[in-house]
Parts: sequence; C-alpha cells; structure tokens
Amino acid sequence: MKEKWKILIIDDEPINTEILNAILKNDYEVVISNNGKEVIALTEKESPNLILLDVLMPGISGFDICKGLKANPLTEKIPVIFITNLKDAEDESYGLTIGGVDYISKPVSAEILRARVATHIALNNHRINIESKVARRNAELIEIQRATIHMLGEAGHYNDTDTGVHIWRMAAFSGVIAKAAGWHDEKVKMIKLAAPMHDTGKIGISDKILKKTTHLNKEEWNIMQTHTSIGHNILLKSSSELFLTAADIALYHHEKWDGTGYPVGLENEQIPESARIVAIADVFDALTTKRPYKEPWPIDKAFDEIEKMGGNHFEPSLVELFMKNIDAILNVKKMWDNEEQVTKKKFLFPLEN
Ligand SMILES: [Fe+2]
Ligand SMILES: [Fe+2]
Repeated sequence: MKEKWKILIIDDEPINTEILNAILKNDYEVVISNNGKEVIALTEKESPNLILLDVLMPGISGFDICKGLKANPLTEKIPVIFITNLKDAEDESYGLTIGGVDYISKPVSAEILRARVATHIALNNHRINIESKVARRNAELIEIQRATIHMLGEAGHYNDTDTGVHIWRMAAFSGVIAKAAGWHDEKVKMIKLAAPMHDTGKIGISDKILKKTTHLNKEEWNIMQTHTSIGHNILLKSSSELFLTAADIALYHHEKWDGTGYPVGLENEQIPESARIVAIADVFDALTTKRPYKEPWPIDKAFDEIEKMGGNHFEPSLVELFMKNIDAILNVKKMWDNEEQVTKKKFLFPLEN
C-alpha cells in the first residue's frame, strides 16, 4: 500500500480546518489543531510532511509560529503553506521571507489546494533525497580521506619499527598541543589528520637502515634523513590544504628550535608551527613506547626530558603548553594504549607475524 504523507493543519476556526480536512483526507493522513500555541510541540511529535498554517489567530500569529518552526532544527525543513484571508501583497512576501513556501487565500479552491500541497510535498521529498545522497557522498569522501591518510601513514611505517598505533596516538597528542596553542577547531582537526603522515617518506628508506639497532654510520644517517624530503615530495602530489600541511610536517618534523635539526637547519619561527607541534608529539610518543632497541621510559622521566628539550630541540612556549596539559596528554595516551591492545588481539600487523 502506498505510504500516505502526513499534513498538519492549524487554524483557530474548526470550520476552516474541517473544510481543508475534507479536501485532503482521502489522499493524506491529516492532523488538525485549532490551537496555534501547541503547534511546535505537535509538529515535533507528528513530524508532518507539510504544514498548512492560518496567519491570523488569537494570541499568536501564523508568522510567529512559522519563525518558531524555522528556528527549530527538528522542524525547520518542513514546508509551511500559509492559508489566510490576508490579501495584502506585502504580507504575502513577508510570509515567504520568513520561510513559508507558498500562500493560499481563503476561500480555498479544492483544486488549487490539492495541486499546491502535492507540488510542495514532491519538492520537499526531492530535496530530502538529494540531501541524503550528498550526505552519503560526503561520508564516502571522508572515508576515502581517512583511508588515504591511514594507508600513507602505514606505508611510511611498514618497514619501520614503530607500531601502527604510534601515528594515531602522536596525532592525538599534536591535537592537544595545537588546541592549547589556541588553534581553532578546524585547524586542530587538520593537524590531527595530517600528523599521521609525518613519516610517509620512510617508504623510500631501506629496511636495513630503518631496523638497524646499532648506531647508523654517517652515510646511513644521511640516507635516513632523506625520509623528510621523500615524504614531502609524495604528499605534495595533492594540492589540498590537508596534504600540503602534511607535506610541511613531513619535511620539517625533525627541525629543531635552535637550528640544529634536519633537513634544512631552520630555526625558531622559520619552522612551520605545525611541524614544531608534531615534533614534540612524535618524540614524546617515541620515548614512552617500546621499540626493539629500548623499553618505554617511565612517564615522569619522559615529561622531564621533553621539558629539558624546550629552547633547544623544541619551541619553549609549546613545551610549556604541553606540560600544562599533562592530564589531557595522559588521557589520550591511555585511550590509544588500550586501542593498541585491542588492535593487537584483533589482527597482527603484517610484519609481526
Ligand atoms: Fe621522522
Ligand atoms: Fe614518528
């Protein structure tokens, strides 16, 4: 059986609601109200597909009701048609500016009413369809973006000794520092998405070097340092702000505040802030997790070490913010450490088999 669309009719005169009901009841499920004041609650409860609304009612005007409906996220998208005696063109245009979709004058013609109701319900259904298609497409794009980041992050660490969770945990630390540094939400979100790709360039470094547990000789060290520019070149293939930020981070995440880092030897504010933030997060995570060549450091010792590195390796004011947000950092760590345990149980990373 075909679904019947629901129409809510509001008019203080029962005779008027009866006339409209008589015209529409065979084709629609009709809900009637003669009390303008209950409309918003009734609309939330009934979720009609369309509302027919009288303008002149005692105590409250249809225009005010319409404004209330349009200001409420639960009811804002329901089309409202005004039904009224007002013939004034100004009133009509006012009704349309506050969100009404149409205007029908009394006495109502049955044909016109049926035609307009059908048209507006069809238009609204069309809008709903398009919106849900756009929402599905957006969700798909977000998933593609997430998967791309994940794959680039994993690719960078595929032959490395860091675990898969490292990239997400250090990204979350980066988010905490960026937020503390006053970044607005969108930018914080962006650094959290860009940071996991910081070591993408390690895909271009031999695993003999990446997995070496003894000190790298000069030549090996020079090769190792190129993971910054390799990552940068890979990530620059996209012109989106997210990947450009990631390219910057990849290139500069080993620069140091005092100018002794690599690959360029930039110092202070010459280093992009995103890379200055990620540098702290990356080192802190490396200190506090197990690697084949070392046990995790006790958390207090790791915080002390980061603090000591303020002014030489790291920007001092960012270190200060990091230290002020120890609780948030520890929360993030706890969450991702748990996640790591779950992930390890669910599936082994390919190289750990
Ligand atoms: Fe790196
Ligand atoms: Fe890293």
